[in-house]
Amino acid sequence: MRVSLSTAVLVAAALSSSASANPIRTTRSSDHQPRELLQLPGIWIENIAVRHNGDLLLTTIGKGDIYSLNPSRPNSKPQIVAEFDQISAAAGITEIHKDVFAITGAQYSLEVGFTPGSIQMIRADFSKDRCGSHKNTTAPAIDFILRGSDVGPLNGLVSLPSHPSYVLGADSTKGLVWRVDTTSGEAEVAIEDDLLTPGPVGPYDFGVNGLKIFGDYLYFTCTKRRALGRVKIDEFGHKVEPAELVAVFGDGNSTAATDDFVMDKKGNAFVTVRPNLLYKVSPDGEKTVVMNDTIVAPASVALSRNEKKLFVVTAGDEAASIGGQVVELDI
Ligand SMILES: *[C@@H]1O[C@H](CO)[C@@H](O)[C@H](O)[C@H]1NC(C)=O
Ligand SMILES: *[C@@H]1O[C@H](CO)[C@@H](O)[C@H](O)[C@H]1NC(C)=O
Ligand SMILES: *[C@@H]1O[C@H](CO)[C@@H](O)[C@H](O)[C@H]1NC(C)=O
Repeated sequence: MRVSLSTAVLVAAALSSSASANPIRTTRSSDHQPRELLQLPGIWIENIAVRHNGDLLLTTIGKGDIYSLNPSRPNSKPQIVAEFDQISAAAGITEIHKDVFAITGAQYSLEVGFTPGSIQMIRADFSKDRCGSHKNTTAPAIDFILRGSDVGPLNGLVSLPSHPSYVLGADSTKGLVWRVDTTSGEAEVAIEDDLLTPGPVGPYDFGVNGLKIFGDYLYFTCTKRRALGRVKIDEFGHKVEPAELVAVFGDGNSTAATDDFVMDKKGNAFVTVRPNLLYKVSPDGEKTVVMNDTIVAPASVALSRNEKKLFVVTAGDEAASIGGQVVELDI
C-alpha cells in the first residue's frame, strides 16, 4: 500500500510525541492537511463532543477518563474533567441540556468487549463552570444516572430533540437501541431491527455503534455490517418504519468496520471506517473519501460549531507506539 506524505508526517509526529510526557502540537502549512492537536500515549480516544465554547470533550478507553481540550489555543494541554468509578472505558457522549452532557462507560477489554452489567452513566454539568473557556480549569458537577444495571452497556448516545433529557443508546453487543430517561435512570428497549445486529461477516463482533438524529430519522452505524443506516422514529424515539441501509463500506473479506460518525446541517454524514478511512456520505448515499491512510484506527468525529472543521479521534495503534489522537481538518 502506498503511504502518503501526510501519513508519514502524522505517524512521525505520533511517534515523537508518544515518547514524551507532553504530546506535541504539529502545525502544517497547508490548511487542508490534517493537523494533530493531541496524542495520548497508551490511551484509545473513543468519542468526542464539542461544547458551546468550542472546547472538545473526549471519552477514552484505558482508565475511562474524560478529557477536555481547547483546540483553538496552541499547545493547549488536555485536562481530565471527569472519571468513572473503577471501569476502563468511557464511551458515548451527548449534550442533554445546554452544556450538560450524558456520558456512558463500562468495563471493556479487547477479548470480552463490554462486560454485561458494568454500565455507568453520568451527567456532567458544565453549565455552572465559572472558569469558562479562558481559564485552564474546567470542573463540571458530576452525578450518576446509572451505575451497574442490565441496561446495555451503551456505546453511541444521542439525545431526543423534542425531549432532550431522554437519550437513545446503542447496545453494540445485543444489537439494539435503548432509551434512558436521564432524570430518573429508567430505561427500556426502544428499537429492535435486524440491521442493528452484528452481521455475519466483518472483523468486530459489534452491531449498532454510533447514533445521530436528522429530521425524522435515527441514523446509525453498524460495525460488523460495515454500514451506515437509518430508521424512522417518532419524537419519543420509537421505531415507526423498518431500518434501511444508506451506505455500505467494503465487502467480501475486507477489514473495513464502521465506527462512530457525525452529521452536518445539510444531512451529510462523516463516517469513520477502520482501519484508516473517513468518508463523507451525502443524503442520497453517495460516498466520498475524505481521509485515506492519514489516521490510525479512527473511532469518532465531530464538527466545529461553525461546521468548518472536523475533529477526528482515533484509537491509535499500541503495537506501533501510536497513542489515541485528535486530528483537525478544514473542510
Ligand atoms: C493553569 O494556569 C496557572 C496560571 O497561569 C498555571 O500556573 C498552571 O500551571 C496552569 N495549569 C495547567 C494544568 O495548565
Ligand atoms: C473470504 O475468505 C475466505 C477464507 O479465506 C475465502 O474462502 C473466501 O473466498 C473469501 N471471500 C471473498 C469474497 O473474497
Ligand atoms: C486508499 O488509498 C490506497 C492507496 O492509494 C488505495 O489503494 C485505496 O483504494 C484507497 N481506498 C479508498 C477507499 O479509496
